[in-house]
Amino acid sequence: MGLFTKDIKNMDDLFMHTLRDIYYAENQIVKTLPDMIEKASDPQLKQGFKTHLNETKNHVQRLDRVFESLGQKAQGVDCPAIDGIIEEADDVAGEVADKRVLDAALIAAAQAVEHYEMTSYGTLIAWAKQLGRQDCANLLQQTLEEEKATDKKLTAVAEAQVNRKAA
Ligand SMILES: [Fe+2]
Ligand SMILES: [Fe+2]
Repeated sequence: MGLFTKDIKNMDDLFMHTLRDIYYAENQIVKTLPDMIEKASDPQLKQGFKTHLNETKNHVQRLDRVFESLGQKAQGVDCPAIDGIIEEADDVAGEVADKRVLDAALIAAAQAVEHYEMTSYGTLIAWAKQLGRQDCANLLQQTLEEEKATDKKLTAVAEAQVNRKAA
């Protein structure tokens, strides 16, 4: 973003900026999930992360298709928000020795990521419709549904963990 010029002039520009933001975020998540798979102990959590890694690779490809249909080059823009969530998760995980507690920390971090994605996609879908790009909205909606489902699965794993501990 320019220091003396304002690069975001209209809704199309703002839409494109946010698309690049989530493109960067999805690519960072692809890089981070293998580490989370390795750290997770609960088999259900490990499997959940593996499944979502595959889904996330597909999210990147769907974004590629959105860029393509808009006649734009697929590229990311720095997203300090997702970097912050990942960095904090790393810091906290580094402080946890107990496996069960580490799983809880990983679930919390993953849910923060999912909620960031959900807010981004929710906004992008609304703007795509407003800009008359229902085709883009449909693609983005498919990803949003997978983010929501992942968030629900993480809650289920967390609750099962709490129940096991209580038993
Ligand atoms: Fe995603
Ligand atoms: Fe996700």
